[in-house]
Amino acid sequence: MSFIDSVFSLKGRTAVITGGAGGLPGSLAIAFLKAGAKVVIWGRGTNHPMAEAAAKIGAEAGGGEIFAVTVDTGSREACEKALEESERISGGPVDTLLNGVGGNRGKSPFVDFDEAIFEDVLKLNLMAGLVVPTRVFAKYWIARGIKGCVINMTSMTSYKALSGTWAYNAAKSGVLNLNEALAKELAPHGIRVNAIAPGFFVGNQNRALLIDEKTGDLTARGKAIIARTPFGRFGKHEELWGAALFLASDHASGFVTGVSIPVDGGYLTDNI
Ligand SMILES: NC(=O)c1ccc[n+]([C@@H]2O[C@H](COP(=O)([O-])OP(=O)(O)OC[C@H]3O[C@@H](n4cnc5c(N)ncnc54)[C@H](O)[C@@H]3O)[C@@H](O)[C@H]2O)c1
Repeated sequence: MSFIDSVFSLKGRTAVITGGAGGLPGSLAIAFLKAGAKVVIWGRGTNHPMAEAAAKIGAEAGGGEIFAVTVDTGSREACEKALEESERISGGPVDTLLNGVGGNRGKSPFVDFDEAIFEDVLKLNLMAGLVVPTRVFAKYWIARGIKGCVINMTSMTSYKALSGTWAYNAAKSGVLNLNEALAKELAPHGIRVNAIAPGFFVGNQNRALLIDEKTGDLTARGKAIIARTPFGRFGKHEELWGAALFLASDHASGFVTGVSIPVDGGYLTDNI
């Protein structure tokens, strides 16, 4: 085994990636497969069947063992069943949970926001995106003595509020808070809890905010983000792979818990 493999290989590991048909989680599924893990993607399968998404990810990774489960991660019962199914189809215990479900919906002045959408976004990012699946996995790992690994998705707005995206801001700062608190709570069980904080990566859930659909030009918000990102561009999905593999590998980060790693082209260094 090469030195790099001994530090970063995920051979023998099985990861559930929630929201795995989506942009960033789908790309992270490719990285996990390439690093040798078995991967089970979870998602609602609303736009495309999950099996189709899994086949596409497998092809892009150039092979590997990938499986798909259709599940709404906002439901505890559904997550419990999905975990049983994941064990069955992947042929063994699951040791890693990457919470990829989440996203924003639009923006507005505070006085105009839609309360139903606000609550949906809180539920999407906090409950479906972290609390519900993490609780199911933590119980399962504690009962079986598995030293599991959780990777959450924080955001630039976990650190510094973005304008107009009120519920997303509140939810993602909550994700950062829970990431730290859960790391402490679960450490005695050998379970590590960390996060990746992507800067700005164009995806389905934020494309309309960043790029004008009609002209293909950057929106005013897209321009403002680029102006505040010292690298002067959006991120590429593969640029998240290194941080994810580092956090997933017990050899690379076995003494690391409760951190959130910004991968942001320097966005958080912004000053005047
Ligand atoms: N794109 C970015 O620039 C960016 C930046 C910072 C953080 N993030 C975070 O990264 C994560 C992924 O973002 P993305 O841009 O790839 O989003 P995305 O919308 O492409 O992917 C999310 C996936 O989750 C699925 N999903 C939503 N609710 C679900 C539920 N209840 N049960 C099961 N599946 C569900 C969606 O169908 C989708 O496939 C999110 O948490 C997002 O907040 C993204």
